[in-house]
Amino acid sequence: MGLANLKPALDACRRCPIGTCATQGVPGEGPRNAALMIVGEQPGDAEDLVGRPFVGPAGQIFDRAAKAAGLDRSASYVTNAVKHFKFQARGKKRLHQRPTQDEISVCRWWLDLERREIAPGLLVAMGATAAGALTGSEANILVRRGNVETTSDGSRVLITLHPSFILRLTDQIAQSRAEAQLTDDLRLAVQLARQTAE
Ligand code: URA
Repeated sequence: MGLANLKPALDACRRCPIGTCATQGVPGEGPRNAALMIVGEQPGDAEDLVGRPFVGPAGQIFDRAAKAAGLDRSASYVTNAVKHFKFQARGKKRLHQRPTQDEISVCRWWLDLERREIAPGLLVAMGATAAGALTGSEANILVRRGNVETTSDGSRVLITLHPSFILRLTDQIAQSRAEAQLTDDLRLAVQLARQTAE
């Protein structure tokens, strides 16, 4: 099974219960020769409806930070640790719910497949779920951000903030500072990926 069959396989995936509630599976997207693989948590409401990663409000923050950092999204592979949207229905709203450790572990099968197929020079983990899925460590993301860690199979992964974390900050100064940190980390990712390719 390769990336060509990923979408239908994800749509049909029932390895964990999340898939039964979501509209569809959301595979990663980007070129096969991407030097960078950016990993988020799971699709949100907009991504679940559209079927593409990071197209909603968190995606807007990511796109803005990527642009400021000189990161070409279309040359990167952008994906999530979990491929279905987990939510709680509240009236007409669908409220994001964090996936459990079991759900993240089960879904790592798909992430590992994407990693094997793309074989990026550098991974970027945006937020605690991606960082945990890739490194096995649940340590505080605010302390780890900006650092390169190693996955259990020896790949390099740069840890950074999740765009949704930035969106949730209510203080404007804190929000600007966090977005600047995400931008700095993405700029570093571009530099490191370039050095690896040289
Ligand atoms: N948050 C994520 O982690 N991934 C998306 O694709 C959208 C929002």
